[in-house]
Amino acid sequence: MKFFIDTANLDEIKEASSWGLVDGVTTNPSLVSKENISFHDLISQICHLVDGPVSAEVVGTIYQDMYREAHILADIHTNVVVKIPLIPEGLKTVKLLTKEGIKTNVTLCFSATQALLAAKAGATYISPFVGRLDDISANGMDLIRDIRLIYNNYQYQTQILTASARGPLHILEAAKIGSDVVTMPFKVMMQLAKHPLTDIGLEKFLSDWRKTQENQPA
Ligand code: E4P
Repeated sequence: MKFFIDTANLDEIKEASSWGLVDGVTTNPSLVSKENISFHDLISQICHLVDGPVSAEVVGTIYQDMYREAHILADIHTNVVVKIPLIPEGLKTVKLLTKEGIKTNVTLCFSATQALLAAKAGATYISPFVGRLDDISANGMDLIRDIRLIYNNYQYQTQILTASARGPLHILEAAKIGSDVVTMPFKVMMQLAKHPLTDIGLEKFLSDWRKTQENQPA
């Protein structure tokens, strides 16, 4: 399963990449609005930090605007994946961009039928938002299960990119279901490595080691 980092913060991207765990980056207009840098410069800098797909989202809501923005974004770097909202005008845009060889990530997916439409339009990635479904007492991971089943049934090549992951359990479930990719905030990536027994065990090993060294004859 590929790990994408869900942030537009260059320091977080640098740090997570230094661990060798980042296969790609996802951004969205809300994440970009937190950074004090122009959108295009930011995407270009991210593409130079990470050698993998970098999702950059359009903000138009009609086909003509989304199509124009998509080309501007795709021209920034070959690794840019154009993020398009899951609305009818968006699907129309995805169909055309796919024909032109431009990669797309269809975002704001909340139902399996929406995911089916994105696959039929030829999307490279579908981004179902699990955390936001959990927030309204629905089960986000059930959506990933349904999409996996449907895509397997028809051998759709669209990759499932589990998004809006809020904690390690979302990552674990996504891996068990067979999500192709999961995108997560920096904090969640760090949480994956943490275990209290690892910290306690390491502390004990090191203190035992120090005692042995102190008892060595001079
Ligand atoms: C996905 O690409 C989105 O950027 C993201 O995962 C949304 O997460 P949130 O629901 O925590 O804002």
